[in-house]
Amino acid sequence: MLQRWHTRHLPTDPAEVLGPDVKGKTFIVTGPTSGIGTTTAETLARAGARVVLACRTVKRGQALIDSWNSTQSEPLRCEAMHLDLDSLDSVRTFASAFLAKGEPLHCLLNNAGVFDMSGAFNRTKDGHESHYGTNFLAPALLSLLLMPSLKLAGTASAPARVVFVCSKLHQFCRRLPLDDLGFERRSYGARAAYAQSKLAEIQFTRELERRLGVMDGEDGSVRGDATVRCVTVHPGNIVTGVVRTLPYVVQVAYKIIMSRVLLTPSEGARASLYAATRGEALTGTGRAPYFTSECVAKSPSPPALDDEAAAKLWDATLATLGLPKDFKP
Ligand SMILES: NC(=O)c1ccc[n+]([C@@H]2O[C@H](COP(=O)([O-])OP(=O)(O)OC[C@H]3O[C@@H](n4cnc5c(N)ncnc54)[C@H](OP(=O)(O)O)[C@@H]3O)[C@@H](O)[C@H]2O)c1
Repeated sequence: MLQRWHTRHLPTDPAEVLGPDVKGKTFIVTGPTSGIGTTTAETLARAGARVVLACRTVKRGQALIDSWNSTQSEPLRCEAMHLDLDSLDSVRTFASAFLAKGEPLHCLLNNAGVFDMSGAFNRTKDGHESHYGTNFLAPALLSLLLMPSLKLAGTASAPARVVFVCSKLHQFCRRLPLDDLGFERRSYGARAAYAQSKLAEIQFTRELERRLGVMDGEDGSVRGDATVRCVTVHPGNIVTGVVRTLPYVVQVAYKIIMSRVLLTPSEGARASLYAATRGEALTGTGRAPYFTSECVAKSPSPPALDDEAAAKLWDATLATLGLPKDFKP
C-alpha cells in the first residue's frame, strides 16, 4: 500500500510514462510472455516502436502479438524470436540472428528473470546456479554481443540503452562471493541466490558504462561521449508470474491476497519504460543510474557502488563467458 502512495504521482497508463521519440525505434524485450515484460513490450509496440519479443516459447510470443494486432487497425511492428537464457548457446544464436539483420538497436531491455520461491537448487544448461545464470550471466552476454547493433543506433546526444530490470533485493547481498557463486561452500537459499544475481547486474552495468567511456562527473553528472548507456531499475513489488514454482493453490491465494497490496504489472512496467525512453533517465543521475518504481533515481546499496568489486566481477564474467580478457564493449 505504501508503494501505491509513493507512486501516486505516476500515470496509471504506462504509455504516459514514455519519452517522445519511441516511434520507429527498435527495442528488444526479454521475458515478454509474462508480468512486467508483457506490458513493457505491448506499450512500446502500441506507441509505434519495432519490438522484438525475445522469448523462450516463440508460440506464446506470437500469440501475444496476434492478440495485440486484433485490436489494431494497422499491424504492430513486432517479431517473436527464440531466446532461452538458461543456455549461453541460445544467447549466442539469438544475438547472431539479430546482428545478421544489420539493424540499429535503440534499447535492449533485460527484463526476463527468475526467483524460484520453491527453494529448489537448480542449474542452467551450462551448469551455473540458475538465478546467477539466467538473471545475470546470460543477459550480460546478450548485452555484450548486441553492442554492434546498439552502437549503430546510439549517438552521443541520444545514446542507445541497455536496461536491466534489477531488484531492491540486491541489498541482501553484501559481497559477491566470486569463488562460490554456485553455493558449494555455503548453504543455499533462493533469496541469497536471487540477491547476488541482482547485485551482479548493477555492478556489471556500472563497469560496462565505465568501459563504454562514461565517467562520473560532479554532482551526479556524467562526462564522456558514450553512444551506449546503461540504466537499472527496481520495478516495485508486483503481482506477476514470479510465484510460478509454488503449488497451484498457493499461487492462486498469493494472487488474490497480494493483488490488494502489490502493484500491477502495468504499474511495474513504468520504471522500465521510463529508463528505456526518457531523456531524464540519463541526465544528472551518475553512472548506470538506478531507478525505483517511483521513477526516481536512488542510490543502490553501497556494495553495488563498489568499483573495485565491479572490476573483479567484470574479469570473472568475461572468463566465464569465454570472452577474451581484453574484450572491449
Ligand atoms: N515481480 C516483482 O515483484 C519483481 C520485483 C523486483 C524485480 N523483478 C524483476 O522483474 C523482472 C520481470 O519479472 P516478473 O515479475 O514480470 O516475472 P514473471 O511474470 O515471472 O516473468 C518473467 C519472464 O521471464 C521469462 N524467463 C524466465 N526464465 C527465462 C529463460 N530461461 N529464458 C528466457 N526467458 C525467461 C519468463 O518466460 P516464460 O513466460 O516462458 O516463463 C517470463 O516471460 C525480473 O527480472 C524480476 O527479477 C520483479
